Amino acid sequence: MKLIARTFAGLENILETELQELGAKDTLIQKRAVAFEGDKEMMYKVNMFSRLTLDVLTPIKSFTAKTPEELYTEVRKVNWSKYLNPQGTFSIAPIIYSSIFTHSQFAMLKTKDAIVDQFREAFGSRPDIEKYTPDLRIVLKISEHKCELLLNSSGAPLFKRGYRSRTGEAPLNEILAAGIITLTGWNKKTPFIDPMCGSGTIPIEAAMIARNIAPCLTEREYGFEKWNDFDESIFNKLYDEAKDAVVESRVIIKGYDIDMEVLAAARGNLKNFPLLGNSITFEKEDFFNSQKTFEKGILVFNPPYDKRINVYNVNDFYAKLGTVLKHSFENYDAWIFSGNLDALKNVGLKPKVKIPLFNGPEESRLVHYPLYLGTKRYGDVN
Ligand SMILES: C[S@@+](CC[C@H](N)C(=O)[O-])C[C@H]1O[C@@H](n2cnc3c(N)ncnc32)[C@H](O)[C@@H]1O
Repeated sequence: MKLIARTFAGLENILETELQELGAKDTLIQKRAVAFEGDKEMMYKVNMFSRLTLDVLTPIKSFTAKTPEELYTEVRKVNWSKYLNPQGTFSIAPIIYSSIFTHSQFAMLKTKDAIVDQFREAFGSRPDIEKYTPDLRIVLKISEHKCELLLNSSGAPLFKRGYRSRTGEAPLNEILAAGIITLTGWNKKTPFIDPMCGSGTIPIEAAMIARNIAPCLTEREYGFEKWNDFDESIFNKLYDEAKDAVVESRVIIKGYDIDMEVLAAARGNLKNFPLLGNSITFEKEDFFNSQKTFEKGILVFNPPYDKRINVYNVNDFYAKLGTVLKHSFENYDAWIFSGNLDALKNVGLKPKVKIPLFNGPEESRLVHYPLYLGTKRYGDVN
């Protein structure tokens, strides 16, 4: 069957590689998504093992509709009792770019009517709409007059790993954090430091990667578990595989922050994930007074960028950051993720790589500053 893994803009290429490694066939990169072929087991597997997937959709019907009535008729042709019980609940998420269906709420309403009318006629009772925890999540895609109905097999988005109960002001999305770490090419051996770790998302995702801990081991529920065709034996088999795949690791992973409150959140989040044990240490430190503790290391962080967290003078902040990197972190690789493209120019070090990414709607960059002594690049100014 055809499956579609959605993700954040900029992560499509690494998602395609991840899916291929999981066994997905005929992968095809799309906008903020990768389409692929797979069976039910592959659908479960991507949900349970992928670090970079937001959700996994499976199309159930494509058709054309030029009027709301046609939309109603076509949606009604689907045998919805295959997917949903009369006493069940469902939601419809519209993704609509159409000059015909200009009001997504109206198209959604027509779709809902078609589904509930079919049930009412056949069973005398109907499933209800439920926004937050429905049994079935339906996606309605309309591009002009081309319509598609898809089922969302993930349920709540997959960045909700289940470990993050507390956050600071501007937490990084878990999928984006995993994507950033993947893009750095970290070898899982070099000491890994997030010097502005906030609620700890980057170090926690790094520890999961280092120990090969699949996201499903954080014990969350998946949409497909509520489906009528849920196959518990496949789910249990994959869950056991995930448990068996966990490896020990002695790699050093550290998170620092200046704010004791967010550090308490980071420590709490780590505690929520017992499998990680004490793979990470979180400590208070002002980056501007910090020194390297290991000969070599990788720094991966998203400093404040004056949107959700106010920094007194964001340009000075980034300039100081560059100075500390240059003078105190020789032989390190620094990777900074920021949504403040102007402030990044003040770092004053020559970047080796700049990767465009999106943090929600915010255009951002992941920038690599190698801080090696003796290379031409080290210390170069923009
Ligand atoms: C954008 S947040 C990081 C969010 C984090 N990645 C997360 O997922 O929660 C930036 C963090 O930098 C910290 N920070 C600001 N100035 C700092 C400094 N001089 N030294 C260390 N941390 C600092 C803030 O306290 C804040 O937690």
